[in-house]
Amino acid sequence: SNRIMLGPLVAAIDQGTSSTRFLVFNAKTAELLSHHQVEIKQSFPKEGWVEEDPKEILQSVYECMDRTCEKLTQLNIDISNIKAIGVTNQRETTLVWDKETGEPLYNAIVWLDLRTQSTVERLINKTPGRNKNHLKTGLPISTYFSAVKLRWLMDNVEKVHEAVLSHRAMFGTVDSWLIWCLTGGKKGGVHCTDVTNASRTMLFNIHTMDWDPELCKYFDIPMEILPKVRSSSEIYGLMVSKSGPLTGVPISGCLGDQSAALVGQMCFKDGQAKNTYGTGCFLLKNVGTKPVMSDHGLLTTIAYKLGRDKPACYALEGSVAIAGAVVRWLKDNLGIIQTSTELEELAADVGTSYGCYFVPAFSGLYAPYWEPSARGIICGLTQFTNRSHLAFAALEAVCFQTREILDAMNQDSGIHLSQLQVDGGMTSNRLLMQLQADILCIPVVKPSMPETTALGAAMAAGAAEGVSVWSLNPEDLTEVTSEKFEPQINPEESELRYARWKKAVQRAMNWET
Ligand code: G3P
Repeated sequence: SNRIMLGPLVAAIDQGTSSTRFLVFNAKTAELLSHHQVEIKQSFPKEGWVEEDPKEILQSVYECMDRTCEKLTQLNIDISNIKAIGVTNQRETTLVWDKETGEPLYNAIVWLDLRTQSTVERLINKTPGRNKNHLKTGLPISTYFSAVKLRWLMDNVEKVHEAVLSHRAMFGTVDSWLIWCLTGGKKGGVHCTDVTNASRTMLFNIHTMDWDPELCKYFDIPMEILPKVRSSSEIYGLMVSKSGPLTGVPISGCLGDQSAALVGQMCFKDGQAKNTYGTGCFLLKNVGTKPVMSDHGLLTTIAYKLGRDKPACYALEGSVAIAGAVVRWLKDNLGIIQTSTELEELAADVGTSYGCYFVPAFSGLYAPYWEPSARGIICGLTQFTNRSHLAFAALEAVCFQTREILDAMNQDSGIHLSQLQVDGGMTSNRLLMQLQADILCIPVVKPSMPETTALGAAMAAGAAEGVSVWSLNPEDLTEVTSEKFEPQINPEESELRYARWKKAVQRAMNWET
């Protein structure tokens, strides 16, 4: 058959909360050539608990790689042109495994999980406000981050406790787990993470750029179980033989998914920002090479460090726990829709929530409130309210939460963002995009290639020293084509709706106390 002649290709594993993907890009044009996606099961063993199976996660990666390679072969594209693989992942999700057997010692505790709420409340009472730890990590103490999840595993899972005592335990976020397995696992796998993922654990010092002995002591975590911290773009190891046609390909990019999206959206300049609508919703703004602390409930986090000798860039981040997850909830728990596209249709039928407000505080509220005891509410109901209004209110909730984050960013910097770059699964919902522009009162700009998270990881992998098939020079970067949504309602109406939302949020707060 006639092989299509292409230059070097770069692939990315995108392991998100709801699904795993493998994608292959042309390194010269950034064109997406093929991909495959597999949904990931989530279990909710107790109220507020969220777990995933580490083996299923790994299996889904293999499946996506296999299927994508098959598709490429069908397209007559030579798989041996794949020169590097980048890994990008749901952040904070916590795993512990046994380095001798290669077996996970418990399920992955997903970032959304609330089981550590009482521990967190105790710690906050001990050291309220912006304490020394916060200044080191850029993070408030919250159920969201890995350290408390790891502490829970060590205190409550006998196997983890024993493995730690006998020096067989390895801790990692999903990136570490995957890289370790893909580079050989118990037979010499590389135990590492990158600075962006490390900065989400509460154990990493964002100033010294390394694990912090004092923080580890505070959470009583033995440092020997932590992965080695590397930059986001360097060769970590090579794919081992289980990976079929990809055997021997270097894994040379690693970024938490939100950082990867920032890179994929080419937000390399101080002040550039993007908002990604996945399971949650995450707005990150590049603030340059010096960390900036927020006065309005945002996180300070590592944006990226694209090479061992390159400087780290920092970001301010507004995290919203529930965005796409609200759609899955309406589908799986209430059964009012069968597919996510149905949600858009339902909401479009009415074009208004008719005064219904839905605060999906399923995992407490993250930015800017950081209130673990908040719980979801639906309010403003009348006999007239139907499922279409609820669908509309769910979409609006995503937009209002983004508005709260954007307001916090604007207040922190004193500079108002003039438009918002967006990406992620939910951005295919055109009604949502229009609503977002209406509620923010600024244009919303969406790239025509929506897989910016994977693109960012592929760019980092392709640009790594020793691979160098992708240039990160601003002049060489391909122009992103995009679509723009302009605000269509008047600002007064927008403010009125937003004010109502704020009232609803107050009702969701301190639900349990
Ligand atoms: O911090 C959690 C975030 O990384 C998860 O992203 O895309 O799975 O919602 P996503």
